[in-house]
Amino acid sequence: MMAKILVTGGTGYIGSHTVVELQKEGFEVIIVDNLSNSNIDVLNGIEKISGIRPAFENIDCVDYVSMDRMFEKYPGIEAIIHFAASKAVGESVEKPLLYYRNNLVSLINLLQLMPIHKVKNFVFSSSCTVYGQPDELPVTEKAPIKPALSPYGNTKQIGEEVIQDTIHSNSFYKSIILRYFNPIGAHPSAEIGELPNGVPNNLLPFVTQTAIGLRKELKVFGEDYNTPDGTCIRDYINVVDLAKAHVISVKRLLEEKGESPVEIFNLGTGRGLSVLEIIQTFEKVNDVKVPYQIVGRREGDIEQVWANPSHANNVLGWKAQETVEDTLKTAWTWEKRLAKLREEKKQTEE
Ligand code: UFG
Repeated sequence: MMAKILVTGGTGYIGSHTVVELQKEGFEVIIVDNLSNSNIDVLNGIEKISGIRPAFENIDCVDYVSMDRMFEKYPGIEAIIHFAASKAVGESVEKPLLYYRNNLVSLINLLQLMPIHKVKNFVFSSSCTVYGQPDELPVTEKAPIKPALSPYGNTKQIGEEVIQDTIHSNSFYKSIILRYFNPIGAHPSAEIGELPNGVPNNLLPFVTQTAIGLRKELKVFGEDYNTPDGTCIRDYINVVDLAKAHVISVKRLLEEKGESPVEIFNLGTGRGLSVLEIIQTFEKVNDVKVPYQIVGRREGDIEQVWANPSHANNVLGWKAQETVEDTLKTAWTWEKRLAKLREEKKQTEE
């Protein structure tokens, strides 16, 4: 058995896919998650894919004492991948203190507990949201950080600064900060995928839920942007590809291959697609209709952003492999799986 890795938020969307990839590479995984935006059944999905049920602790990372006890219970953790965070942009505008507390106190607790428990290595989930609307596209890691458009975005910017300052003050720590573009799709086995709570905020779960008939129609937010078809452009990255970048990052930290104590990488494909291109491709590859209506712009949306992933390609040796066509197929297979599970549940209740 290789190193023990703590994955906070390990039952969440990106977290669960990363747990599977870590297990595949022989790592022992301990998940800490308070299930605030995920389901305990995700552990079954993980076990079905990898054959291994990861250790699980239902703890809120904001709770310092419980986290301290968790590190005592699992001695020898060598690295942390910190996913656990609140991530709904709109909710963060309404409940800023919840976001600052959840996202920043968790991070500070972990950074404080690391030297106490001799854990040196830290992988942080950041976001392309830190670039705002970049002046140059595709955006590189050298692009300036723009003022955050939401408390959520601000927690990612502040989080990066907290890590930088902590490492600057103490050479004990090493960290890799990963700036995700837009993760989509599900594991090809359809055992795990995205489980949005309530009405989805993100494009892909809304597309799949509309295609399956759970929602009447998709609202496309704005067609008057300065883009070829007028809708916003994003860099949609396969969630398993994204998960693999975390395994590479953990190995890089453990093998002490970093060029500096903190390294930052964009995780994207390098290709930008518009909202309409996503809808059309989804319809085509899955042979299903997605009824949609163009409505006004959504407040706070960035017009267009896609990654220059060269730094991750060259330095991490990581590259997005999956095509958007195949990724959109996995998203649809997953939505159909969820529909089947709902149907089975209904029948057992009757
Ligand atoms: N969109 C629609 N209709 C919907 C949902 C989304 O047209 O029902 C559009 C949005 O306007 C945007 C695109 O689809 O143009 C993508 O929207 P998402 O909400 O899926 O993703 P965002 O790019 O807005 O947000 C994502 C993450 C955030 C992160 C942000 C950084 O969800 O956590 O990227 O840019 F902060």
